[in-house]
Amino acid sequence: MTEPVFEFGKSGLPPAGEDGRLDAPAFHRNVEPIWDAIGETLAAKSGAVLEIGSGTGQHIVTYAARLPHLTFWPSDIIESHRASIDAWRRAVSLPNLHPPRSIDLMQPDWPWQDGPLAAILCFNVIHIAPWAVAENLMRGAGRHLEPGGHLIMYGPYKRDGAHTAPSNEAFDASLRGRNPAWGVRDLEAVVALAAANGLTLVNTRAMPANNLALAFERR
Ligand SMILES: C[S@@+](CC[C@H](N)C(=O)[O-])C[C@H]1O[C@@H](n2cnc3c(N)ncnc32)[C@H](O)[C@@H]1O
Repeated sequence: MTEPVFEFGKSGLPPAGEDGRLDAPAFHRNVEPIWDAIGETLAAKSGAVLEIGSGTGQHIVTYAARLPHLTFWPSDIIESHRASIDAWRRAVSLPNLHPPRSIDLMQPDWPWQDGPLAAILCFNVIHIAPWAVAENLMRGAGRHLEPGGHLIMYGPYKRDGAHTAPSNEAFDASLRGRNPAWGVRDLEAVVALAAANGLTLVNTRAMPANNLALAFERR
């Protein structure tokens, strides 16, 4: 896939096209709240952290700089996103941040051959994708996380089948308008999927703008 299907906004810092770095306005809103939710969990780990659907790459570059004892692997399915991730990576020049890979969660048995993972990060992906992406995320987390490893997710969720805020309901409608297979997911369905793959929900944290940060632990 070469054409971007996601727009990260028009703030244009640094200018699009110069070195490929994209800037997502949402990153600036989310980076510190997500860090507050996950920083401590990650800081206590050792080993490798994979991010799936890294987008612009801004989250992983920021967290890799703050956690030099961990090795970070970004990934995305879209070429322009991988170019952005790599441009941010080269701009910060961190020894613990690898070049981006292409991991597609539409692939049921997506491979990972670099050893058991201490954590997998997946922010704002499963609602902007078919349900199979959530299924394959959980299957892969069950296969590739080390025992005690964490899958950390961030995004909007319904609870008991109901939206938690009008803004999430409107967002859900706009997602489904773009693609009927997309949509805000039910937390209970995600938790059941995780459980079927050996993952237990160990932390649920309310985040700004009616989002949740979820931490699942591999048994
Ligand atoms: C809304 S963006 C979120 C980007 C970033 N995680 C963040 O929170 O800023 C969703 C990302 O998911 C990626 N994505 C969509 N479908 C995917 C799939 N099947 N497998 C892996 N990533 C996917 C997109 O390319 C995009 O970069």
